[in-house]
Amino acid sequence: MNEKQLAGKKAASYIQDGMIVGLGTGSTVYWTILEIARMVKEGMSITGVATSKSTEKLAQEQGIPLSSLENVSTIDLTIDGADELTEDLTLIKGGGGALLREKIIAYHSTHMIVVADSSKYVKKLGTFPLPVEITKFGYLKTLNAIKNMGCTASLRKENDSLFITDNGNYIVDCSFDEICFPTTLHDHLNQIPGVVENGLFIGYATKAIIGQENTITYVEN
Ligand code: 5RP
Repeated sequence: MNEKQLAGKKAASYIQDGMIVGLGTGSTVYWTILEIARMVKEGMSITGVATSKSTEKLAQEQGIPLSSLENVSTIDLTIDGADELTEDLTLIKGGGGALLREKIIAYHSTHMIVVADSSKYVKKLGTFPLPVEITKFGYLKTLNAIKNMGCTASLRKENDSLFITDNGNYIVDCSFDEICFPTTLHDHLNQIPGVVENGLFIGYATKAIIGQENTITYVEN
């Protein structure tokens, strides 16, 4: 098993019968979803809430019962990946472009477990460019306002076109040398009109399960 597989599979063991489970997005949580599908086939009753259209498709293909966020009272546990995480469980997310739905679902979850390979566990955030979701309206002005915060920023592309999120927005990837004050940066970014949400997740994760060669490291808050 590789590190992603190890972490992703282990996280599924925290799911109990009857839970409403937030299903994250990405190649690590992919293994969690396969494991959940196996548990469902063996008789466990859970309801998933997907953080992206791609996860919704995967969960449907795997036979996991799904509900919309609107139709559940609260989410017991969300399991999701990260692009970077630090010891205090501050995260950068959005490498897959799903940060807005991921953050809404994390906000409404009692617990959030992050699954990652060891390359994601860092001393300081910022090597991975911070994804920021912005509206199409006024996007060049919003891009410039973000650049004026002192980063190198570019609109994300996919196959020579601008990447469009599940919510019909664009993503700006922002390189700050090092993110020393994540809360301040988070708040300043979200104050720019046109910014819908940014990929800093502060105070959401309650545990991280990190694959480390053949073993697992746990980080808890
Ligand atoms: C998607 C995300 C992913 O969770 C993040 O990019 C990690 O993905 P992976 O597990 O494939 O490395 O935030 O928006």
